[in-house]
Amino acid sequence: MLKVLVVRLMSGSIGGHCVERQAVVCQVFGAVLWTSLFITACTSQPLNEEKQATDLTLFGGDSLVSLPSSVTDLVIYQVYPRSFSDTTGDGVGDLRGAIEKLDYLQALGINAIWFSPFLKSPQGDFGYDVSDFYDIAPEYGTMDDFDELLRQMHARNIKMILDVPLNHTSNEHPWFKESASSKGNPKRDWYIWRDGKEPGGEEPPNNWQAIPGGPAWSYYENTDQWVYFHFLPFQPDLNYRNPEVKEAMFDVLRFWLDKGVDGFRLDMLHAIYEDEQLRDDSFSWAFLPSDRTTASLFTAHKYDLNLPETYNLAMELREMVDEYEPERFLLGEVFGNIEQLRKYYGPENDGLQMVFLFEFTSTPFRPDVYADVIGRIEKALPPPYTPTYVLSNHDRKRFISRLDNNPDKAKIAAMMQLTLRGVPIIYYGEEIGMPESNFELSSSLDPIGRKYAWVPGWLTRLLGLSLTRDGCRTPMQWDVSPTSGFSSDPYTTPWLKISDTYREINVAVESDEPNSLLNCYRRLLKIRQENPALVSGSLELIDLGPLNDKCLAYRRVLEGREIFIYLNFSDQVLNLPYPPKTPNLLFSTLADRTGLETTSPEDGLYLSPLEGLILAIE
Ligand code: GLC
Repeated sequence: MLKVLVVRLMSGSIGGHCVERQAVVCQVFGAVLWTSLFITACTSQPLNEEKQATDLTLFGGDSLVSLPSSVTDLVIYQVYPRSFSDTTGDGVGDLRGAIEKLDYLQALGINAIWFSPFLKSPQGDFGYDVSDFYDIAPEYGTMDDFDELLRQMHARNIKMILDVPLNHTSNEHPWFKESASSKGNPKRDWYIWRDGKEPGGEEPPNNWQAIPGGPAWSYYENTDQWVYFHFLPFQPDLNYRNPEVKEAMFDVLRFWLDKGVDGFRLDMLHAIYEDEQLRDDSFSWAFLPSDRTTASLFTAHKYDLNLPETYNLAMELREMVDEYEPERFLLGEVFGNIEQLRKYYGPENDGLQMVFLFEFTSTPFRPDVYADVIGRIEKALPPPYTPTYVLSNHDRKRFISRLDNNPDKAKIAAMMQLTLRGVPIIYYGEEIGMPESNFELSSSLDPIGRKYAWVPGWLTRLLGLSLTRDGCRTPMQWDVSPTSGFSSDPYTTPWLKISDTYREINVAVESDEPNSLLNCYRRLLKIRQENPALVSGSLELIDLGPLNDKCLAYRRVLEGREIFIYLNFSDQVLNLPYPPKTPNLLFSTLADRTGLETTSPEDGLYLSPLEGLILAIE
């Protein structure tokens, strides 16, 4: 069966033009595992045994200084517009829906919203395939709706972060249609066209692999040439080596900046430039994708990702947004090792202000592993650089479903994300614990799922794989009414089936439960807002010796104010060394904890199973 599978993978084609051949069996099979990032836990090294101490000692802090900046204050919420709130009753969320929910988001305590793309698009990849960068997709609303949304956000001091897929367009974009029409078209060089190694579509120009698997080239018979795409064949890459392209895309950004957006989420920024000579990629032993490297599927991705030209572009983009006041933000979707990610911030913090740090989306739920990730990030991105922590997004498995859908574990993760030094990004529904839904691949709406629709369900279950992103994109669960309050028409069929959990897991029900995950987020965000040390204080990990594999602890310090954070990842009561001075209880994930009265400095500090505590020393 495996053989059949591999053969089918090798012969499977995406779109009408893509010829898949000469693929190494393992590379292609590995492509099936691309989305294993949804579930695969990276193996991280636990803390060095030698570092363990029997009493409370601090390590990792090299007298860090934090500079106040409006970037560090951000708490970003990601809205997937299609799934957030539908006011027209067509089963698809829209901008008016987002406007209606702004009060909810403001009360939650966030101060910026990143909207996944709502620009005009044939929706082949649900907006990540833009056909007009200057207009709104009609299913989401009009430019007037956009203006109103921005106005209402600003009235509530909420910043707008627009998602712009800069790297590619839809193949239905007029630029591409022109470019594809003939070799002599003035827009021909706006995309990356090359002759194949063999004529007649027999062999692509080089061995590059697209990220979801398979060759990164589509053949166009009319000109007997191939066009390059990094993601899916209907998303051809723009050619940034052509100055006209760069100018056109900078104009796009200026258009939205002039309208008043506060920043951009830059989709696939690391893929903007490719090797000028299009040299064949080299072999790598890396097989499964990981959030620590771009190498995967035995491919190094040496010549198509993270080129020096791309790091320079980050700085050029920064220069452009810095012309605007008030401050505008750049948040890059870039993949690579931490040194590569660091380069996007620029040598003098003069590049992107933020890049997504995705490691939490794939690390196991273990305090020693998190400590290792945080330690590496703090070392690579000390203040004034701003780490940006993500638990899940529209491409990844919902976080709580990596934690057996256990809300107490989700509280620990949320508390960690909201008390670390860095900008937290909350994916819509994460605050109520919306779980991942299971969808059959055969009926997938996500183009990745459709690409692999033929993979038998028993195999994906056996391997524990999720090959469609539909499961993390289901409509927001607002209340117990039909469509869970997602749509204004209770009889409509939402574009994706609402999770069966909506009667128990929704905003209305959780608002009334003091100990709910939603109220935990609200309390945490309030504590964060009231304690500048949690926003811009330095961070030092605390070594708890033998308890490092049960509890994560760190200290945030700002202008003499110290805040201690303890997160009990275990199902046991923990007895920890007491902080050096008498602390005040600021917060517990257990809403009914009223104080530290059961503890004394001699006894040490007691943490209940899966309890998180924030203590302050004045
Ligand atoms: C980014 C987006 C993803 C999209 C891809 C292609 O990774 O997050 O949803 O499919 O880029 O634009």
